Amino acid sequence: MSQLVLVLDFGGQYKELIAGAVRAQSVYSEIKPGNLSLETIKELAPIGIILTGGPNSVYLPDSPQCDPKIFELGIPILGICYGMQMMAHLLGGEVASANNGEYGRVLVTPKNPSETPFQALMSHRDSLVRLPEGFVATATTSNCIAACEDVQRKLYGLQYHPESKHTDGGANIMRHFLFDVCKAKGDYKLDDYIDLKITEVRKQVGNQKVLLGLSGGVDSSVCASLLSKAIPGQLTCIFVDHGLMRLNEGDEIEEIFSKRDLHFIRVNAEDRFLSKLAGVREPEQKRKIIGEEFVRVFEEESVKLGDIPFLAQGTIYPDVVESGGTHGSTIKSHHNVGGLPEDLSFTGLVEPLSGLFKDEVRALGVKLDLPLYLVNRQPFPGPGLGIRVIGEITKDKLDDLRLADAIYREELDSLEEKPDQYFAVMTDTYSVGVKGDDRMYDPVIALRAVSTSDFMTAEYSPIPHEVLGRVASRITSEIPTVSRVVYDITSKPPSTVEWE
Ligand code: XMP
Repeated sequence: MSQLVLVLDFGGQYKELIAGAVRAQSVYSEIKPGNLSLETIKELAPIGIILTGGPNSVYLPDSPQCDPKIFELGIPILGICYGMQMMAHLLGGEVASANNGEYGRVLVTPKNPSETPFQALMSHRDSLVRLPEGFVATATTSNCIAACEDVQRKLYGLQYHPESKHTDGGANIMRHFLFDVCKAKGDYKLDDYIDLKITEVRKQVGNQKVLLGLSGGVDSSVCASLLSKAIPGQLTCIFVDHGLMRLNEGDEIEEIFSKRDLHFIRVNAEDRFLSKLAGVREPEQKRKIIGEEFVRVFEEESVKLGDIPFLAQGTIYPDVVESGGTHGSTIKSHHNVGGLPEDLSFTGLVEPLSGLFKDEVRALGVKLDLPLYLVNRQPFPGPGLGIRVIGEITKDKLDDLRLADAIYREELDSLEEKPDQYFAVMTDTYSVGVKGDDRMYDPVIALRAVSTSDFMTAEYSPIPHEVLGRVASRITSEIPTVSRVVYDITSKPPSTVEWE
């Protein structure tokens, strides 16, 4: 068993980020409710405890609190933001609502003159105005106490967020707490996560059956591999090929997954998707039709399989946050597996990746022996090429787009620094061209490439002109019915990554 650092949750958006930052240092961490009983904490025997931030004010009557006796256990404790304020409040310090809250990157000045000031992410209205006995302030901003400690009792507080990438040197601060204060050995490996989830899933589903919608994307693929280890023989994976996949993608997915112990079922549903989409031009309507049809196919298949009680999904942590599934506010609703409705008759959901970030999921995929190209895939939208053929979708346009997209990706794959997402779009603009002695009047292909870390904002990628020129030349010569190739140089905002 790895050493454990307990993350006690007081409602902050960042709790998984904290747990992820601890695990990134090879120290296992788990998130538990803030009011976890003293007995349970003693049983879990953590080497350190981190108290998260949260939206409340400690001096209000119903604010969440930990058991104050945890400060007497002798276990090192780090309070972050609300966590620090609550610790100080419970130990006799004073927290008050400040006139000026601090939001965003703020300059933090350490008290020790040999340490340099640095920028740290702050997000607070309340501030610590009087320290509890035994504590000293170790850093300040122009407005507040930014860090404090009681070395004797091994209690530490930070008003800023060391777990955020917007805090300079945040990882060093985490390392200092984990290795110098908690004396962590750094004995956690991803294999331990796999073992833990295998045990949990087995306990959750017993000997009952589980159905997974497998899209071939990173998350559902890793989920499938993990479940096939956990419950071989009980898992069925359905891959709905809607005919809107990229070149050879359906066959590649079948090739990889049919060899694994997954009870893999490929449903070729191109005809029914294309006939439902015939004549439809409006993007949101296309999305709706594709989502609904996906569900119909999925339902039909699950009826054929008898009553399978559990539905598995490759939901990862950012999906949970974006759906407002934590205490954070809703950013956008996110549909998994093409938007399965709640009235599908499953009694339980199995989501073994819901605590992980994309990079952790990719690392897990490598551990589970998934091919690297699959693990490192760029995102591909659920509605597939359906939202990359602008206007009406036809089989001919899809086939041309598949070829253009494959050429573009092939050329960009050889770049040393690749954009985070790149694909071709079949526009519904026609232009005049000349091939041989003949006039042509055919569609225009657009190329898109963006750099982004979170896909909420994105910069267009400045791909070298000679590469773009080569792509345009190949597309127009290898696909007779493309008249012209253009490159999209807008960033997000105002443009979204996808054209529809
Ligand atoms: P936008 O176009 O919103 O895209 O800037 C941001 C990221 O999300 C992907 N995307 C989707 N993914 N279903 C998905 O599963 C969708 O309907 C969808 N629309 C956009 C897009 O590829 C990009 O990575």
